[in-house]
Amino acid sequence: MFEDVPQAPADPILGLTEAFKKDSNPAKINLGVGVFTDASGKTPLLDTAKEAEKRLAGAAQSRVYLPIDGDQKFCALMQKLTFGADSEVLFTRRAFTACAPGGTGALRIVADFLKQNFPSAKVWMSNPTWPNHPQIFDAAGVRTDRYPWFDPVANKLDMPGLIEALSKLPAGSAVLLHGCCHNPTGIDPTVEEWTQIAGLLAARKLLPIVDFAYQGFGTGIDEDATGIRILAAHCRELIVCSSCSKNFSLYADRVGAVTFVCNDENSAQRVASQVKRVIRANYSNPPQHGFAIVSTILGDSALCAAWEKEVADMRNRINALRALFADTLAAKGAKQDFGFIKKQLGMFSFSGLSKEQVDALRDQHAIYIVGSGRVSVAGMNEKTMDRLCEAIVSVL
Ligand SMILES: Cc1ncc(COP(=O)(O)O)c(C=O)c1O
Repeated sequence: MFEDVPQAPADPILGLTEAFKKDSNPAKINLGVGVFTDASGKTPLLDTAKEAEKRLAGAAQSRVYLPIDGDQKFCALMQKLTFGADSEVLFTRRAFTACAPGGTGALRIVADFLKQNFPSAKVWMSNPTWPNHPQIFDAAGVRTDRYPWFDPVANKLDMPGLIEALSKLPAGSAVLLHGCCHNPTGIDPTVEEWTQIAGLLAARKLLPIVDFAYQGFGTGIDEDATGIRILAAHCRELIVCSSCSKNFSLYADRVGAVTFVCNDENSAQRVASQVKRVIRANYSNPPQHGFAIVSTILGDSALCAAWEKEVADMRNRINALRALFADTLAAKGAKQDFGFIKKQLGMFSFSGLSKEQVDALRDQHAIYIVGSGRVSVAGMNEKTMDRLCEAIVSVL
């Protein structure tokens, strides 16, 4: 049977890392996958995570199965982090949160939930978006389509195109939004734009699904939740898919959460029963360790403050690299203006490099960038910035 199984195409992002690993050039640079690296080129375990692990090791947790929806202490803390400690959503108990294996797992839970409960629903996503978004919903059999997001000429949000597209969607359509640090463009709506988007979604009875993978990497932990909080103030129902991969640097532990905000507590309980059904049939119940690390940090005010500082350090490093990248490109003679890179938010920059230029960088310079021209600023390093920018200028 297996002899006739066709070769699947490599994943556009993780497949690039596989090719990078095989490259024998010692000067190779990987700007594909979104992973934070420090000045020494490593992805560190946060000090707060190390401290939490020490405490957990001392407490010698039992390894009995968790409930289907996982660690409820973690879930309550994630609701606070997302909506704010004084949010009405928390007090009215109309939100249900389940642990999820990373942001990807959270999105897949949503996709299966939609397929089972709203089989004809369609999910609209930004053009462009993270390449795994359409794959996740396709895999669950959910129909997808695109709304405009990026104006490549002005290098900004295509607000008129977005509003026009949302205004035409039939009620009951789901709209996938990036909570902050839009991947790949790094372009987020302003407060006024979020308010306009939220008002339109509410008026047209559209369901927001917010992918929240980078809380703290844009402008701050609370600041980055602004869009979600505006949506929650306008829309009685929304879904949030959170990831703790980047902001807790727990990539391999697969820590995430899915939150359904419902009209009332009764609906939240019924939704919870359906979400648990989805999880039980997928992976039964989540793992324990990474979630325990996060709840140990968030549940201790001193550790939480130290974690916020560590997130700020990662964010500040990325912003400093953004400025260095744009300035070095100019210094190396780039004729086009890359100043927009300084304004984008999050780990990525949408560089405007074409597929041909990306291929030339890989083939001639061992520099690995995804085909869309998205570069991971978080993967750059001061020591190799000159070589990187010289190579980019040579292919422009
Ligand atoms: C926009 C977006 N959503 C979700 C994820 C998935 O995060 P996780 O690694 O927690 O599954 C990523 C990771 O790169 C992402 O960029």
